[in-house]
Amino acid sequence: MKKEDKPIALDAYQALAERYSQIAESKAENGYIEHPAIRKQLGNVKGKVVLDAGCGPGILATYMLNEGADVTGFDISPNMIELARQRSEGRAKLFVADMASPLAFVESGKFDIVASSLAIDYVRDWTVLLSEFWRALKPGGRFVFTIQHPLGAYLWYNPPTAFGVQYVEATWEGFGGAKVVMPDYYRSFEEVINPLIQAGFVIKQIVDAKPIEALKAKDPKKYEKYSKVPTFMCLEAVK
Ligand SMILES: C[S@@+](CC[C@H](N)C(=O)[O-])C[C@H]1O[C@@H](n2cnc3c(N)ncnc32)[C@H](O)[C@@H]1O
Repeated sequence: MKKEDKPIALDAYQALAERYSQIAESKAENGYIEHPAIRKQLGNVKGKVVLDAGCGPGILATYMLNEGADVTGFDISPNMIELARQRSEGRAKLFVADMASPLAFVESGKFDIVASSLAIDYVRDWTVLLSEFWRALKPGGRFVFTIQHPLGAYLWYNPPTAFGVQYVEATWEGFGGAKVVMPDYYRSFEEVINPLIQAGFVIKQIVDAKPIEALKAKDPKKYEKYSKVPTFMCLEAVK
């Protein structure tokens, strides 16, 4: 792998994998906003064949397995894949792979759903990943995913302009232990929507994710903050 081709978030997630795996489910942003949003949008996955892109430590993958789905997952971080293997107790088919490149292990037209939770943000150019997810899906298959909301991301990263796709970084302290500098891409709204349209997808729903009520008691300040400005969005696009 040439240095310039290295996925931007690989080192950070290799370092963070164990802590992310332990903490994400109880964290306001993940457990009380993003997880409920993508699960609601996925709906009933019983009997569905699902590809989980950027599956991390397998939190969504294990949820879907427990709901009766047949799950294949992949992630760029070998540490994350090992944690996903443990969490899913060997029930998911798991691969280390970069979604910015063709996915050799993915059979064409096999999947009912491609799910991706907070992972495609880390790829600047979505052309390859969208054409691979399109290839993976059956006709009528659904691509259900979450990303950072352009509005929340703009306020959080404070990039020089709100237009386009821009490399940004933030120091993450919320997972305990040593701070991790997390690289990412800020994307404007048109940079989220137009690539989906150009790849052939029909956009079925866009959700500005809100915290669930349970966050009010757990962390009233975060509940108030995230009820004012969306931090994540969930989208469903259909092949
Ligand atoms: C915020 S975590 C989300 C993990 C998991 N989907 C979840 O919600 O718990 C982002 C994940 O995307 C993975 N990732 C980042 N860039 C990637 C790439 N180019 N290809 C595949 N996975 C990638 C990271 O390794 C990390 O596990």
